[in-house]
Amino acid sequence: MGKQEFSNQVKRIGVLTSGGDAPGMNAAVRAVVRTAFYRGIEVIGIRRGWQGLINGDMFPMTTKDVSHIINIGGTILYTARSEDFRTPEGRKKAYDKCRLFGLDGLVAIGGDGTFAGALALSTEYPISVVGIPGTIDNDIGCTDYCIGYDTAANTAIEAIDKLRDTGQSHERCSVIEVMGHRAGNLAMYVGIGTGATAVLTPEEPWDIEQDVIEKIRSARIAGRTNFMIVVAEGAHPVDDTLEEFPVFADGSGAGYQIGQLIRKHLGLVPRVTVLGHVQRGGNPTARDRVNATRMGHHAVTILAEGKTNRIVVHKQGAVSDVDMIEGLQQKNKLSENESIVVKTMTGVY
Ligand code: F6P
Repeated sequence: MGKQEFSNQVKRIGVLTSGGDAPGMNAAVRAVVRTAFYRGIEVIGIRRGWQGLINGDMFPMTTKDVSHIINIGGTILYTARSEDFRTPEGRKKAYDKCRLFGLDGLVAIGGDGTFAGALALSTEYPISVVGIPGTIDNDIGCTDYCIGYDTAANTAIEAIDKLRDTGQSHERCSVIEVMGHRAGNLAMYVGIGTGATAVLTPEEPWDIEQDVIEKIRSARIAGRTNFMIVVAEGAHPVDDTLEEFPVFADGSGAGYQIGQLIRKHLGLVPRVTVLGHVQRGGNPTARDRVNATRMGHHAVTILAEGKTNRIVVHKQGAVSDVDMIEGLQQKNKLSENESIVVKTMTGVY
């Protein structure tokens, strides 16, 4: 089938990845470039996120640039978190580069910080923006799914399965800290997928006795001799003034905190594993590749139709888009059903 004729409302677009990288971002970049090519739109790749736009760190992309990247983790465009872009002066410089390169629109792949930046730019200057959610945290309220979440969850589950083998052999308690920033989506999903003894998330501040000690105790009474405690990096106690709350400057440390308290209350000597950035790497899963491709395709399609200030979302299994302001206002929430599943499945043998 030959190419169709399109009456695009944009002629040249930029694409960037910003914030923490996520497996599948490359698949989204590839889909953006290929969809644009199909429609006769030029694509300028912007390296290092918003900072790259400010610095003019940009190059014309061809379909060859995105060949054989669908399977690769990270982002070929590099990523960064830009302080400059938070300022009106920084955004002025960024828009100057949009004019210099003749960009009519931008596709920004990242998290809510990335979208807030896109919205500020399009509010101040005549440039169309579309965001694609890409973050392993899966913490963007307006979408059920963000690119990278599935791969990160599978990576964490694989690692925890391995920890279970050794924990079971030594009849130990393992505490595993997973990423997620201030959200517990990843921890809860991974906790369900690994059959954890307890799962702690930032959304439900923990009470050590009720949420950890009693769960280990009841599992032990029932006969279990190894325990897996999954802790989101942002999890914190009901009483934040607890003196045993020595989280590190980067916000991690919740796992060590829980490990110390288990030792103090139960006399067990837990092994604590912080999975850390390993969760951000690796080849994207089938789900991340396919969804990222669908979302990248959708982003260019709506930009070409003249839409702006939209976030591409994945809702109830289908790709669509929502207004960026409304989308950003929707707060991330843990699914109540999943919370109940966790409560039902934990603390037993
Ligand atoms: O947002 C993705 C994420 O991996 C969070 O889960 C984590 O808190 C943060 O990024 C870590 O950021 P950095 O790569 O700057 O250490």
